[in-house]
Amino acid sequence: MEQKQGCFDPGQPISQSRVIFAPVGELVPLALQAVRKGGRVVCGGYMKSHLKRFLEFDQCVAIGRFENGSSGQQAFDMKPKRILVIQGHPDQCQSHFGHALSNAYAKAASEHGHEVRYLCLASIDFPLLRSRSDWEDGEVPESLVSAQKDILWAQHIALFFPLWLGGMPALLKGFLEQVARPGFAFTSGKGNVLPAKLLGGRSARIVVTMGMPALVYRWYYRAHSIKAMERNILGFVGINPVHETLIGAVEGMSEEHRVCWLRKLATLGAKAA
Ligand SMILES: Cc1cc2nc3c(=O)[nH]c(=O)nc-3n(C[C@H](O)[C@H](O)[C@H](O)COP(=O)(O)O)c2cc1C
Repeated sequence: MEQKQGCFDPGQPISQSRVIFAPVGELVPLALQAVRKGGRVVCGGYMKSHLKRFLEFDQCVAIGRFENGSSGQQAFDMKPKRILVIQGHPDQCQSHFGHALSNAYAKAASEHGHEVRYLCLASIDFPLLRSRSDWEDGEVPESLVSAQKDILWAQHIALFFPLWLGGMPALLKGFLEQVARPGFAFTSGKGNVLPAKLLGGRSARIVVTMGMPALVYRWYYRAHSIKAMERNILGFVGINPVHETLIGAVEGMSEEHRVCWLRKLATLGAKAA
């Protein structure tokens, strides 16, 4: 392994086996730009004022001893969060790539000190909501009472599902219709009064797998169903910010590419992002 001190040429990609020893903070963004896909920039220290920017980079890992005297990756100063992982794939019989992704996210989150609860919608039996009166005045199905408690408990929700007919699978929509009830998720605004959002103070990440390339969905279809979910469902009840990860062309994806996505999701889970 080669070590270099204090110098970095952004024109040169960093090889995986070179350590840059640079006591100059400005080199970090340059190094991040140049690092190869899947590679990491490892930093042995950081200034608290730069921490927020630092955490924006998935490929950046901080190790070593820091200002506050602590050491190791936990030194991100990140408070442990309560994370609810919702696996929205309707198939109960088979494990899909989406399950591997949500498992990688949950495992890394738990290993990094976050509290994690995991809901697999395919294994919960619940009826479809059928009327406004049921929505407003009916009881939440017994099988979903604990799911509502989990949502209230969570500070961050990670929602995984495959794109079906351009949107979320009916099972997930059915679940959201049942749990996002007036009085629980928002107040029903009477007259000209706007409904108040009751699930504020929570963030979310939506992770969607799809058959088409993600770029096609994002740019040609304008990611319409994700926008609707962000604005009309999560935003409407106060969940904000909402981040998204779109994973396209999953069906013919190489093993190497899959591993790369699993790593990315583990990084996000570790950061509760
Ligand atoms: C009923 C159904 C509808 C689908 N609709 C779409 C679609 O509209 N757009 C798309 O890109 N992929 C679509 N797909 C492909 C899935 O998104 C893809 O298979 C899934 O994300 C990953 O595969 P998995 O189910 O094995 O996890 C559909 C698949 C099924 C079974």
